[in-house]
Amino acid sequence: MKNTTASLQKQKQQQEKISMLTAYDYTTARLVDKAGINAILVGDSLGMVILGYENTLAVTMEDMIHHSKAVARGAENALVVTDLPFLSYHTSVEEAVLNAGRLLKEGAAQAVKLEGGVEFAEVIQAITRASIPVMGHIGLTPQSVHSFGGFKIQGKTEAAARKVIEDALAVEAAGAFAVVLEGVPEKLGQLITELLTIPTIGIGAGRYTDGQVLVYQDMLAMYDGFQPKFVKQYAAIGEDMVAAFANYHQEVGSQAFPADEHVFAIQSEVMDTLRQEFGEAK
Ligand code: KIV
Repeated sequence: MKNTTASLQKQKQQQEKISMLTAYDYTTARLVDKAGINAILVGDSLGMVILGYENTLAVTMEDMIHHSKAVARGAENALVVTDLPFLSYHTSVEEAVLNAGRLLKEGAAQAVKLEGGVEFAEVIQAITRASIPVMGHIGLTPQSVHSFGGFKIQGKTEAAARKVIEDALAVEAAGAFAVVLEGVPEKLGQLITELLTIPTIGIGAGRYTDGQVLVYQDMLAMYDGFQPKFVKQYAAIGEDMVAAFANYHQEVGSQAFPADEHVFAIQSEVMDTLRQEFGEAK
């Protein structure tokens, strides 16, 4: 069954946890979708795990549209949410609405996600007014890496926790259908989840949020950059891939690959004729 913003809301009401994973291409989206994951995030984390940048700041609208289109083609049932990249919604409300619209029109997303709380309430309101569903993202917002002075857990002091709560309430009041809560203490994640009527999707926000999201390269141990404490590795696919590539390299060298079962036959009379005409191989 197709997941929608409404079905995610229903999951919260029925206390049924929401699963979300990132995907950036058609093949992975198909696999994630087949696994029954509720929502796919085409995250701007693609800047790091797909494009090899140090952070997400260099990601463009074109990058997001390109990957979003591929994911949307592979996602039959999962709700596709695509990130608005850095500076695509910061300069004016008009530009934010136009860029959000592009992610739906050109990127075939069903919703957009943007980072920021109180300061972006007006932007969230304008985008939702244009009938574009918005997922908020507060707490440790990676596009603010330089103003935070690194990827740091947010909301640890009373003042900082109040700020995260105010952001959550502002995002909900502005019309967001859900909010990602990243890198905050578990008890703060729990309180915000109780305060909001919209679903909270946690990443490094503890056990009590309405759902969880992970970057798939992290949970499959494919990315050898920094591994945050909140990541659980569900499989060592990175290691398996290196072993398979090395095995292939060795078998190409030793001529164990291709073997009999990988080659195509031709009638020997045809080859005899060709050899007579073109000569024996040296
Ligand atoms: O870009 C991304 O993958 C994200 C998740 C970390 C929530 O925003």
